[in-house]
Amino acid sequence: MHLPISRRKFLSLGAGLVTTVALPRISYSDEKHISEYELVAAPTESPIVGEDYPETAVLSYNSSVPGPEIRLKQGDRLRVTLLNRIDQETTVHWHGIRLPNAMDGVPYLTQAPVAPGETFTYEFDLPDAGTFWYHPHVNSSEQVGRGLYGALIVEEPEVLQRSDSLEPIYQRELTWILDDWRFDQTATIQPFGVGHDASHGGRIGNVVTINGRLPQPLRVRSGERLRLRLINAANARHFALVFEGHSPHIIAIDGQPTVPHSPDDDTVVLAPAMRTDLLLDMSAEPGSKTRIIDSFYRDPYLLNEIVYSSETALRTSFPDPVALPGNPLSEPDLANAHRYDILFAGGAMGGMRGALVNGRWKDIRSMVNSGLVWAINGVAASSHELKPSLTLQRDKTYIFSLQNDTVFPHPIHLHGHHFRVIRRNKKPTKHREWQDTVLVQAREQVDIAFVADNPGDWMFHCHIPEHMEAGMMSVVRVV
Ligand code: C2O
Ligand code: CU
Repeated sequence: MHLPISRRKFLSLGAGLVTTVALPRISYSDEKHISEYELVAAPTESPIVGEDYPETAVLSYNSSVPGPEIRLKQGDRLRVTLLNRIDQETTVHWHGIRLPNAMDGVPYLTQAPVAPGETFTYEFDLPDAGTFWYHPHVNSSEQVGRGLYGALIVEEPEVLQRSDSLEPIYQRELTWILDDWRFDQTATIQPFGVGHDASHGGRIGNVVTINGRLPQPLRVRSGERLRLRLINAANARHFALVFEGHSPHIIAIDGQPTVPHSPDDDTVVLAPAMRTDLLLDMSAEPGSKTRIIDSFYRDPYLLNEIVYSSETALRTSFPDPVALPGNPLSEPDLANAHRYDILFAGGAMGGMRGALVNGRWKDIRSMVNSGLVWAINGVAASSHELKPSLTLQRDKTYIFSLQNDTVFPHPIHLHGHHFRVIRRNKKPTKHREWQDTVLVQAREQVDIAFVADNPGDWMFHCHIPEHMEAGMMSVVRVV
């Protein structure tokens, strides 16, 4: 990775930059369990790379990047009033939340876009505990890329304790929102809308941040067990995290609990928009240091350090991790499933000849002239004003067989539902994970299964916004 900002700078910052965001909660009613928030989308300046550089002009919710962490309990109701103070239309999409279609935040499809100066109130219940996030669904490459995103944490209703010892299942939890930025030497965000990004791997930046700042060392005590909630808010950067000398347990993916397990090669892979909850056993010696390396791309780099205090270890061995309580998801009925093959095509070196655009065949050259380079089942979407490409019957089980016929990885996201990832290249997956976004590697085939139990028109798209905005999106209707 080429960083215009030197490695030394990256590592020399002290711990003084941790920002806490004032909780904008305006009211909480105990009877109705409604949490009410206000989110103001507005331009602001933020010291993303620290005090040695000018502050960066960003877009933010409530003047901070990331926006405020919204935190409530499973079963609660959330009411959020969005006030748009940026100079473009916007919306808020509640990524991964199974909510009524009208609250999904997709312009034209589920609501009118919110014009500058206008407000929109979202209100819905939170059926699932887990790690979710929110972001706009208008001009996403730029709006998310300039800093509009935040965490939405839905806590389990009870304090999680081990049944054998009544000990909590972790001692401490942290949320890390990963992002990257494409900066010049003055920490100014470089222009959006680069054609090469759209036709290749998306907009990949040159500075990686955690919670909107250069990574600050993770300070721990030996013997602690941490719950680390990772959220990948980057437009296009994938992460493959190695916690040297540690063996993380994955306990949830995209908010949904999974059987606690170590990932393959002890490497935690996060495609854009994905979340992973880890239990991290701080098993190294007091006073030691270890590294967190991101090895997704050819040149691995140091993402962050773990710094152990000199305090004596709380313990030296860790009990087996306990699974989180499950969420109320409908189990797919695979024996009676209807299967659809879904082909993702296009992009540089993809060899696509053309696709249907607004119902008309266009060859690849005229597609490119209108900014389109990708297609799903032969259709390139030119806006969110889409007719459904599939109509699903409510409460029936569907298998989507996703075939990536391109040379780039694509994180494919379905709104309003979670699905089980059941097969990769025809081989059953070990954990049949519930996810809302699945990484489909170049030339890979991934089968997902779900019950279409949420009526409405739902986006189904690649979560790299440069791909989505260049054709890789569609709409699935549940009736
Ligand atoms: Cu994270 Cu269509 O959304
Ligand atoms: Cu893509």
